[in-house]
Amino acid sequence: MSDNRVAASLFDVTGRGYAVTGGASGIGLAVAEVLADSGAHVALLDLHPGRVEAETARLRERGGKVTGHVVDVTDGDAVAAAVRAAEADAGRLDGVFANAGISVGASFTGPGWRVEEFPIDAWDTVRAVNLDGVLDTLRAAAAVLLPRGRGRIVLTASTAGLRTDPMVAYSYTSAEAAVVGLGRQAALDLAGSGVTVNVIAPGPFRTNIGAGFDPGEAVWRETVPLGRIGHTDELKGLALLLASDASSYMTGGVYPIDGGALALSHTPA
Ligand SMILES: NC(=O)c1ccc[n+]([C@@H]2O[C@H](COP(=O)([O-])OP(=O)(O)OC[C@H]3O[C@@H](n4cnc5c(N)ncnc54)[C@H](O)[C@@H]3O)[C@@H](O)[C@H]2O)c1
Repeated sequence: MSDNRVAASLFDVTGRGYAVTGGASGIGLAVAEVLADSGAHVALLDLHPGRVEAETARLRERGGKVTGHVVDVTDGDAVAAAVRAAEADAGRLDGVFANAGISVGASFTGPGWRVEEFPIDAWDTVRAVNLDGVLDTLRAAAAVLLPRGRGRIVLTASTAGLRTDPMVAYSYTSAEAAVVGLGRQAALDLAGSGVTVNVIAPGPFRTNIGAGFDPGEAVWRETVPLGRIGHTDELKGLALLLASDASSYMTGGVYPIDGGALALSHTPA
Protein backbone atom coordinates (compact mmCIF):
# COMPACT_ATOMS: atom_id res chain seq x y z
CA MET A 1 0.00 0.00 0.00
CA SER A 2 1.40 3.38 -0.88
CA ASP A 3 -1.59 5.65 -0.34
CA ASN A 4 -3.72 6.89 2.49
CA ARG A 5 -5.05 3.37 3.12
CA VAL A 6 -1.97 2.80 5.32
CA ALA A 7 -3.05 5.48 7.78
CA ALA A 8 -6.69 4.49 7.45
CA SER A 9 -5.98 0.90 8.42
CA LEU A 10 -3.63 1.78 11.30
CA PHE A 11 -6.19 4.08 12.90
CA ASP A 12 -9.30 2.12 11.88
CA VAL A 13 -11.96 1.97 14.62
CA THR A 14 -14.93 1.25 12.34
CA GLY A 15 -17.59 -0.77 14.12
CA ARG A 16 -15.71 -0.82 17.43
CA GLY A 17 -17.34 0.20 20.71
CA TYR A 18 -16.14 2.88 23.12
CA ALA A 19 -17.42 4.59 26.27
CA VAL A 20 -16.32 8.08 27.32
CA THR A 21 -17.04 9.49 30.78
CA GLY A 22 -17.52 13.23 30.79
CA GLY A 23 -18.27 12.61 27.13
CA ALA A 24 -20.85 15.35 26.73
CA SER A 25 -18.49 18.33 27.01
CA GLY A 26 -15.00 19.57 26.30
CA ILE A 27 -12.21 17.03 26.00
CA GLY A 28 -14.49 13.99 26.40
CA LEU A 29 -16.79 15.31 23.71
CA ALA A 30 -13.84 15.75 21.33
CA VAL A 31 -12.81 12.15 22.02
CA ALA A 32 -16.36 10.94 21.38
CA GLU A 33 -16.61 13.04 18.24
CA VAL A 34 -13.44 11.74 16.59
CA LEU A 35 -14.35 8.14 17.38
CA ALA A 36 -17.93 8.55 16.12
CA ASP A 37 -16.77 10.42 13.01
CA SER A 38 -14.37 7.51 12.38
CA GLY A 39 -17.18 4.96 12.36
CA ALA A 40 -17.06 3.65 15.93
CA HIS A 41 -20.04 3.20 18.27
CA VAL A 42 -19.66 5.65 21.15
CA ALA A 43 -21.53 5.95 24.43
CA LEU A 44 -21.43 9.32 26.18
CA LEU A 45 -21.48 8.74 29.95
CA ASP A 46 -22.03 12.06 31.70
CA LEU A 47 -23.64 13.62 34.74
CA HIS A 48 -25.33 16.45 32.85
CA PRO A 49 -28.66 15.28 31.34
CA GLY A 50 -29.12 18.28 29.03
CA ARG A 51 -25.66 17.94 27.52
CA VAL A 52 -26.03 14.18 27.12
CA GLU A 53 -29.29 14.65 25.23
CA ALA A 54 -28.07 17.54 23.07
CA GLU A 55 -24.67 16.06 22.15
CA THR A 56 -26.03 12.57 21.50
CA ALA A 57 -28.58 14.09 19.12
CA ARG A 58 -25.99 16.34 17.44
CA LEU A 59 -23.52 13.50 16.82
CA ARG A 60 -26.30 11.22 15.56
CA GLU A 61 -27.42 13.91 13.13
CA ARG A 62 -23.97 13.87 11.54
CA GLY A 63 -24.20 10.10 11.12
CA GLY A 64 -22.62 8.92 14.39
CA LYS A 65 -23.61 5.68 16.10
CA VAL A 66 -23.90 7.39 19.46
CA THR A 67 -25.83 6.65 22.64
CA GLY A 68 -26.00 8.62 25.88
CA HIS A 69 -26.28 7.60 29.52
CA VAL A 70 -26.65 9.94 32.46
CA VAL A 71 -24.32 8.67 35.17
CA ASP A 72 -22.40 10.03 38.13
CA VAL A 73 -18.89 8.52 38.19
CA THR A 74 -18.82 8.88 41.97
CA ASP A 75 -21.34 6.01 42.09
CA GLY A 76 -19.27 2.91 41.37
CA ASP A 77 -22.25 0.60 40.74
CA ALA A 78 -23.78 3.13 38.35
CA VAL A 79 -20.52 3.44 36.40
CA ALA A 80 -20.24 -0.34 36.11
CA ALA A 81 -23.84 -0.50 34.83
CA ALA A 82 -23.21 2.33 32.37
CA VAL A 83 -20.08 0.67 30.96
CA ARG A 84 -22.06 -2.57 30.52
CA ALA A 85 -24.82 -0.54 28.84
CA ALA A 86 -22.25 0.94 26.47
CA GLU A 87 -21.16 -2.58 25.56
CA ALA A 88 -24.80 -3.58 24.98
CA ASP A 89 -25.42 -0.49 22.82
CA ALA A 90 -22.52 -1.31 20.50
CA GLY A 91 -22.67 -5.10 20.79
CA ARG A 92 -19.01 -4.99 21.86
CA LEU A 93 -16.61 -2.86 23.90
CA ASP A 94 -13.10 -2.04 22.72
CA GLY A 95 -12.14 0.89 24.89
CA VAL A 96 -13.08 3.18 27.73
CA PHE A 97 -11.95 6.76 28.30
CA ALA A 98 -12.10 7.62 32.02
CA ASN A 99 -12.20 11.35 31.49
CA ALA A 100 -14.84 12.99 33.71
CA GLY A 101 -13.36 15.57 36.03
CA ILE A 102 -13.97 18.84 37.83
CA SER A 103 -11.77 21.64 39.14
CA VAL A 104 -12.85 23.33 42.36
CA GLY A 105 -11.17 24.39 45.59
CA ALA A 106 -8.77 26.91 46.97
CA SER A 107 -5.04 27.52 46.97
CA PHE A 108 -2.83 27.44 50.04
CA THR A 109 -2.22 31.16 49.78
CA GLY A 110 -5.60 32.74 49.11
CA PRO A 111 -8.13 33.83 51.71
CA GLY A 112 -8.50 31.17 54.36
CA TRP A 113 -4.94 29.91 54.04
CA ARG A 114 -4.72 28.59 57.57
CA VAL A 115 -4.72 24.80 57.70
CA GLU A 116 -7.93 24.57 59.71
CA GLU A 117 -9.69 26.70 57.10
CA PHE A 118 -8.80 24.57 54.09
CA PRO A 119 -12.06 23.71 52.33
CA ILE A 120 -11.97 19.98 52.94
CA ASP A 121 -15.30 19.54 51.18
CA ALA A 122 -13.66 20.66 47.91
CA TRP A 123 -10.84 18.18 48.53
CA ASP A 124 -13.34 15.37 49.02
CA THR A 125 -15.45 16.41 46.04
CA VAL A 126 -12.52 16.60 43.63
CA ARG A 127 -11.06 13.35 44.90
CA ALA A 128 -14.43 11.61 44.54
CA VAL A 129 -14.82 12.60 40.88
CA ASN A 130 -11.27 12.95 39.55
CA LEU A 131 -9.62 10.04 41.34
CA ASP A 132 -12.19 7.63 42.79
CA GLY A 133 -14.42 8.12 39.74
CA VAL A 134 -11.51 7.32 37.43
CA LEU A 135 -10.64 4.26 39.52
CA ASP A 136 -14.23 2.97 39.41
CA THR A 137 -14.40 3.60 35.65
CA LEU A 138 -11.12 1.76 35.18
CA ARG A 139 -12.41 -1.19 37.24
CA ALA A 140 -15.66 -1.27 35.28
CA ALA A 141 -13.73 -1.18 32.01
CA ALA A 142 -11.35 -3.94 33.09
CA ALA A 143 -14.26 -6.15 34.15
CA VAL A 144 -15.62 -6.09 30.59
CA LEU A 145 -12.36 -5.95 28.62
CA LEU A 146 -10.27 -8.55 30.48
CA PRO A 147 -12.51 -11.50 29.54
CA ARG A 148 -12.27 -10.30 25.90
CA GLY A 149 -8.48 -10.39 26.11
CA ARG A 150 -8.07 -7.03 24.43
CA GLY A 151 -8.97 -3.39 24.86
CA ARG A 152 -7.90 0.14 25.52
CA ILE A 153 -8.29 2.12 28.72
CA VAL A 154 -7.33 5.78 28.61
CA LEU A 155 -7.34 8.01 31.69
CA THR A 156 -7.44 11.81 31.48
CA ALA A 157 -5.09 13.37 34.05
CA SER A 158 -3.55 16.83 33.57
CA THR A 159 -0.18 18.52 33.29
CA ALA A 160 -1.15 19.73 36.78
CA GLY A 161 -0.53 16.14 37.88
CA LEU A 162 3.06 16.37 36.65
CA ARG A 163 4.08 19.77 38.04
CA THR A 164 2.72 22.63 40.12
CA ASP A 165 0.12 24.90 38.55
CA PRO A 166 -0.87 28.28 40.02
CA MET A 167 -4.18 28.22 38.14
CA VAL A 168 -5.68 25.24 39.96
CA ALA A 169 -6.16 24.09 43.55
CA TYR A 170 -4.10 21.59 45.51
CA SER A 171 -7.11 19.28 45.52
CA TYR A 172 -6.85 19.14 41.73
CA THR A 173 -3.06 18.74 41.39
CA SER A 174 -3.10 15.99 44.03
CA ALA A 175 -5.92 14.05 42.38
CA GLU A 176 -4.33 14.38 38.93
CA ALA A 177 -0.93 13.20 40.18
CA ALA A 178 -2.68 10.19 41.68
CA VAL A 179 -4.40 9.46 38.35
CA VAL A 180 -0.96 9.36 36.71
CA GLY A 181 0.19 6.79 39.28
CA LEU A 182 -3.02 4.82 38.96
CA GLY A 183 -2.70 4.62 35.19
CA ARG A 184 0.89 3.46 35.29
CA GLN A 185 0.23 0.84 37.96
CA ALA A 186 -2.89 -0.44 36.18
CA ALA A 187 -0.88 -0.75 32.96
CA LEU A 188 1.67 -2.87 34.79
CA ASP A 189 -0.98 -5.03 36.46
CA LEU A 190 -2.86 -5.59 33.19
CA ALA A 191 0.22 -6.07 30.99
CA GLY A 192 -0.08 -9.41 29.23
CA SER A 193 -3.88 -9.37 29.42
CA GLY A 194 -4.26 -7.65 26.06
CA VAL A 195 -5.70 -4.57 27.77
CA THR A 196 -3.51 -1.47 27.66
CA VAL A 197 -3.77 1.56 29.93
CA ASN A 198 -2.46 5.00 29.01
CA VAL A 199 -2.81 8.49 30.45
CA ILE A 200 -3.47 11.75 28.62
CA ALA A 201 -2.12 14.84 30.41
CA PRO A 202 -3.71 17.92 28.80
CA GLY A 203 -2.45 21.41 29.35
CA PRO A 204 -4.94 24.28 29.04
CA PHE A 205 -7.90 23.64 26.72
CA ARG A 206 -10.95 25.83 26.33
CA THR A 207 -13.83 23.77 27.77
CA ASN A 208 -16.61 24.17 30.31
CA ILE A 209 -14.26 23.31 33.20
CA GLY A 210 -12.85 26.82 33.09
CA ALA A 211 -16.09 28.59 32.21
CA GLY A 212 -16.14 31.93 33.99
CA PHE A 213 -12.36 31.86 34.52
CA ASP A 214 -10.49 33.83 31.87
CA PRO A 215 -6.96 34.86 32.81
CA GLY A 216 -6.54 36.57 29.43
CA GLU A 217 -4.54 35.68 26.34
CA ALA A 218 -1.34 37.17 27.80
CA VAL A 219 -1.20 34.36 30.34
CA TRP A 220 -1.18 31.72 27.60
CA ARG A 221 1.53 33.61 25.71
CA GLU A 222 3.66 33.53 28.86
CA THR A 223 3.00 29.98 30.03
CA VAL A 224 2.51 28.03 26.79
CA PRO A 225 5.35 28.01 24.22
CA LEU A 226 2.81 27.74 21.39
CA GLY A 227 1.38 30.95 22.82
CA ARG A 228 -2.30 30.07 23.15
CA ILE A 229 -4.88 27.88 24.86
CA GLY A 230 -5.69 24.60 23.09
CA HIS A 231 -8.80 23.82 21.06
CA THR A 232 -10.35 20.45 21.89
CA ASP A 233 -10.15 19.43 18.21
CA GLU A 234 -6.37 19.37 18.73
CA LEU A 235 -6.74 16.43 21.09
CA LYS A 236 -8.47 14.20 18.57
CA GLY A 237 -5.33 12.76 16.97
CA LEU A 238 -3.96 11.54 20.30
CA ALA A 239 -7.36 10.09 21.25
CA LEU A 240 -7.62 8.15 17.99
CA LEU A 241 -4.05 6.91 18.34
CA LEU A 242 -4.69 5.59 21.85
CA ALA A 243 -8.05 4.04 20.88
CA SER A 244 -6.79 2.23 17.77
CA ASP A 245 -4.35 -0.52 16.81
CA ALA A 246 -1.77 2.18 16.07
CA SER A 247 -0.97 2.18 19.82
CA SER A 248 -0.54 -1.60 20.15
CA TYR A 249 2.91 -1.27 21.79
CA MET A 250 1.95 1.60 24.09
CA THR A 251 0.95 0.99 27.69
CA GLY A 252 1.76 2.79 30.94
CA GLY A 253 2.50 5.94 28.97
CA VAL A 254 1.70 9.46 30.12
CA TYR A 255 1.20 11.76 27.15
CA PRO A 256 1.24 15.53 27.65
CA ILE A 257 -0.68 17.52 25.06
CA ASP A 258 -0.03 21.03 26.18
CA GLY A 259 1.42 23.35 23.55
CA GLY A 260 4.85 22.78 25.13
CA ALA A 261 3.90 24.01 28.61
CA LEU A 262 5.69 21.21 30.43
CA ALA A 263 8.86 21.74 28.41
CA LEU A 264 8.80 25.38 29.43
CA SER A 265 8.40 24.53 33.10
CA HIS A 266 11.44 22.24 32.83
CA THR A 267 13.62 25.04 31.51
CA PRO A 268 15.99 26.29 34.24
CA ALA A 269 15.22 29.88 35.24
N1 LIG B 1 -9.76 21.88 30.04
C1 LIG B 1 -8.54 21.83 30.52
O1 LIG B 1 -7.80 22.81 30.44
C2 LIG B 1 -8.02 20.56 31.16
C3 LIG B 1 -6.65 20.48 31.40
C4 LIG B 1 -6.13 19.33 31.98
C5 LIG B 1 -6.98 18.27 32.29
N2 LIG B 1 -8.31 18.37 32.06
C6 LIG B 1 -9.15 17.24 32.42
O2 LIG B 1 -9.94 16.86 31.32
C7 LIG B 1 -11.11 16.20 31.78
C8 LIG B 1 -12.31 16.79 31.06
O3 LIG B 1 -12.45 18.14 31.44
P1 LIG B 1 -12.96 19.26 30.46
O4 LIG B 1 -11.97 20.35 30.47
O5 LIG B 1 -13.37 18.68 29.18
O6 LIG B 1 -14.20 19.80 31.30
P2 LIG B 1 -15.74 20.00 30.94
O7 LIG B 1 -16.34 20.59 32.16
O8 LIG B 1 -15.91 20.70 29.64
O9 LIG B 1 -16.28 18.51 30.75
C9 LIG B 1 -16.32 17.61 31.84
C10 LIG B 1 -17.59 16.76 31.72
O10 LIG B 1 -17.57 15.85 32.82
C11 LIG B 1 -18.87 15.76 33.36
N3 LIG B 1 -18.81 15.38 34.76
C12 LIG B 1 -18.42 16.15 35.81
N4 LIG B 1 -18.58 15.45 36.95
C13 LIG B 1 -19.07 14.23 36.60
C14 LIG B 1 -19.45 13.08 37.33
N5 LIG B 1 -19.39 13.07 38.67
N6 LIG B 1 -19.91 12.02 36.66
C15 LIG B 1 -20.01 12.04 35.30
N7 LIG B 1 -19.67 13.10 34.57
C16 LIG B 1 -19.21 14.19 35.20
C17 LIG B 1 -19.46 17.15 33.19
O11 LIG B 1 -20.89 17.10 33.18
C18 LIG B 1 -18.88 17.58 31.84
O12 LIG B 1 -19.77 17.28 30.78
C19 LIG B 1 -11.13 16.39 33.28
O13 LIG B 1 -10.69 15.19 33.90
C20 LIG B 1 -10.14 17.49 33.53
O14 LIG B 1 -9.54 17.42 34.79
C21 LIG B 1 -8.86 19.50 31.50
